Amino acid sequence: MRILAIETSCDDTAAAVLDNDRVLSSVISSQIDLHKEWGGVVPDLAKRAHQERIIPVIVEALKRSKLKQNPPLTPPSKKEGGLDFFLENIIDVIAVTVGPGLAPALAVGVNTAKELAIKYNKKMVAVNHIEGHILSNWVKNSKGLPERKIELPGLVLTVSGGHTKIIKVGQTQGSAYTKFVYEVVGETMDDAAGEALDKASKLLGLGYPGGPVIERLALRGDKNFLPLPHSLADKKILDYSFSGLKTSFYYQIKDWSKDRIGKNLGNLAASFQEAVFEQLLRKYKLAIEKYQPKSLLACGGVMANLELRKRLRQLAKEVGLPIYMPVKKWLNTDNAAMIGVAGYYRAMRGEYVEEIEELDREPRARI
Ligand code: KG4
Ligand code: ZN
Repeated sequence: MRILAIETSCDDTAAAVLDNDRVLSSVISSQIDLHKEWGGVVPDLAKRAHQERIIPVIVEALKRSKLKQNPPLTPPSKKEGGLDFFLENIIDVIAVTVGPGLAPALAVGVNTAKELAIKYNKKMVAVNHIEGHILSNWVKNSKGLPERKIELPGLVLTVSGGHTKIIKVGQTQGSAYTKFVYEVVGETMDDAAGEALDKASKLLGLGYPGGPVIERLALRGDKNFLPLPHSLADKKILDYSFSGLKTSFYYQIKDWSKDRIGKNLGNLAASFQEAVFEQLLRKYKLAIEKYQPKSLLACGGVMANLELRKRLRQLAKEVGLPIYMPVKKWLNTDNAAMIGVAGYYRAMRGEYVEEIEELDREPRARI
């Protein structure tokens, strides 16, 4: 089954082509440069950029995929670059993110996918963005690697700019095709972890996105420099809260001179990052003890952070469980390859969109 996957839920315009769960091509056009000066994603700017980029990104993904087709596919030269040839000859199914995400941004992907599905008479699957992040751990390259045998039930730590959740993932017994079942066992009550890092970065004048800058600065800082609260100390609570951290951080440095902040950027970044990671790991460990999963998994943009990956590996060792994280850095942050894999499992179960004209975005979709 050949799948064209489309993702536009936030500030990345992305498309990928898959052969079942194998990724033949993945193209991501980031809008960071557009949103940077505003310190966060501006929905209308994102919408306009998605509109400008979506077709070129799809064409590029289709073109790149032809190199990996077996046998290699050579379009007649006069049609080279056109959507027609590729969609008619390669694609069986179109998968698109319907939510959760920014409504104006989601609309661009959903509408484009619908237009293409109708014009070229393709089947469609609607994909939940968080399921996509979870299944980024099931993504394979064009050679079918890595071959992972992930034992379920597993416990997934999902940490991105929009979500922070601990999710139990299992499989229904006896079904012919894999059906994943999800249960959210903990989630943030206010900001997401990535959002907290982005806000701290903005406060320090470091721009958007904050996670990567804070990671870099934290390498040369003292994580014990600034005392920050250990939020939600109650061990029965598996939820997260990051707004208290942000407030405490703000009040402690609000009267500092620019010079003092500048001299302590590393220390401030390290302290804030530590407070976020400490809470992420503390609650995740409690959830592991409570649910006794067979495997640990992590996903989402913040998982691109090497320090967090190291700490999670240590935790997995401590509790004696295998841990799976996306194998490539770009698979942590938003991409369409993960949407394609989620779409593949849905399509295998025959969960196609019934009335394509009626398909709508779901900005507040839950997993
Ligand atoms: O998954 P993602 O691309 O988009 C959402 O679905 O939200 O995640 C984006 C988030 C941003 O908050 C960004 O600051 C954070 O992931 N992020 C990182 C790193 N790279 C991206 N956080 C910490 N360390 C990183 N290296
Ligand atoms: Zn995401």
